[in-house]
Amino acid sequence: MISQEFLQSIAASRGIRPAELEVLSLSLSGISTTEIASQLDISEDLVRKRLSRIYIKFEIEGRGPVKFAKLQQLLHNLYQTHLASEREPKIGVIETGLTDNNSDLQITTHPLNPLHNPLPTSSTTHNSQILNRIDWSEVIDVSIFYGRAEELAQLEQWIVRDSSRLIAVVGLGGIGKTALLTKLTQQIQSYFDCVIGRSLHNAPPLESILADLLKSLSHPHEPELSEKVDERIVQLISYLRDRRCLLVLDDVQALLRSNDVYGRYLQGYEGYGALFRRIAEEQHQSCLVLISQEKLREISLLENPSRSIHSLKLEGLKPEDAQQILLGKNLTGKQSWQELIQHYRGNPLHLNLIAATIENIFNRDVGEFVKLKTTVSNTGILDEPFQRLSALEKQVMQWLAKEDKALSFQQLRAKIEEIATSDLIEVLDSLGGRYLIEKVKSKDTNEFLFTLQPVIKKYVTKYHFSSAPKL
Ligand SMILES: Nc1ncnc2c1ncn2[C@@H]1O[C@H](COP(=O)(O)OP(=O)(O)OP(=O)(O)O)[C@@H](O)[C@H]1O
Ligand SMILES: [Mg+2]
Repeated sequence: MISQEFLQSIAASRGIRPAELEVLSLSLSGISTTEIASQLDISEDLVRKRLSRIYIKFEIEGRGPVKFAKLQQLLHNLYQTHLASEREPKIGVIETGLTDNNSDLQITTHPLNPLHNPLPTSSTTHNSQILNRIDWSEVIDVSIFYGRAEELAQLEQWIVRDSSRLIAVVGLGGIGKTALLTKLTQQIQSYFDCVIGRSLHNAPPLESILADLLKSLSHPHEPELSEKVDERIVQLISYLRDRRCLLVLDDVQALLRSNDVYGRYLQGYEGYGALFRRIAEEQHQSCLVLISQEKLREISLLENPSRSIHSLKLEGLKPEDAQQILLGKNLTGKQSWQELIQHYRGNPLHLNLIAATIENIFNRDVGEFVKLKTTVSNTGILDEPFQRLSALEKQVMQWLAKEDKALSFQQLRAKIEEIATSDLIEVLDSLGGRYLIEKVKSKDTNEFLFTLQPVIKKYVTKYHFSSAPKL
């Protein structure tokens, strides 16, 4: 009999949701689909759906009853390995990082690794003390996390199976980049000797982040830090070669300049670009994930599936997943939910904020808010990306904010006479690299049309029209 505790930990490492775990536990206790459905008060179809998701997450292939037998066998084997490892003296040291509140990260030791045997694991032969060391400076709570199955699968494919060396996860603020990586790390951490996460929000100089990473990697020993940045990079890459590490650097946009086109480093921070390029190009067994609100030029230049460098642009949640946010807030007026979700482009942060407003002002009724045909834009979220815009970019954003309809390049060209054609091309390209404009294809002419999503339009109108009164 597999213990519930073990089942929960295996389920967490495979991204199995609580509702799926319920079905799994009941199935393992030997009761039929019909009985499970009646116990949980759900349809049999839903029970089968949950089981099929469980099979996918355990990578079980085959047909109906065979699949369940395979799953039972796999869990049984894993449990036996786990029990055997419990009887052996532990060799791994588990570290939980710099903060006290990172209990969200499921910390697993290598004895669980038979689960992942078909996949590449570390070729480490070094001191066992660094096994499964997790050092994550700011862990966010992802106990409420909806959808993203495709993104999680894609990232797991690149990072774990393809052993990619450099991945960028990019997209607008609040779209869910940090949450996605936190969730992913919970699922894949057992493939790595060490997992390190850092936010670059305060723009640390390169030498200090290198010192920090080297310190974490050499734990529990003090690293011998060279004075020269280049030598620290060599040292870092040598660690990445020796062991399989997952490094996640969040908020990379903080290293980028204001008042310039997208993706250019602050003065004195260009070394980061060189570091990212070396990690992308040199041979090692680790992976660096960069999270950014802006497109990163290195990645665009180096991106190439055969070179193990990829980027994932994160879009809003799918409507069915975004609905879960509204459901979780007990909102009513379901007939208007789709409109609200589309209006906020499935951005989970914006949806959470507007859900709170609807709760406070409209007694939870989405319909009452939607019928006002207005947009509420939380300024704080957009302040930072707007501060980084160049004067020309701000100007083009203002033009786009005035328009009800999306405009083609030629239409924009005709409207904004004061900007040279080459500058306008550069500005549109740059705004695209910051994910601040939307590009849609015209049904009539097949050309691209440019526009702003409602929240951004509202923000620009309200705060960035120099002559316009504040609304
Ligand atoms: N899949 C999801 N399901 C439910 N809530 C989510 C999901 N993804 C993100 N959220 C919530 O949305 C908010 C924003 O997410 P997150 O902080 O990950 O965004 P971000 O893209 O990292 O933003 P920023 O660029 O500002 O750092 C958080 O409160 C988070 O909990
Ligand atoms: Mg973030």
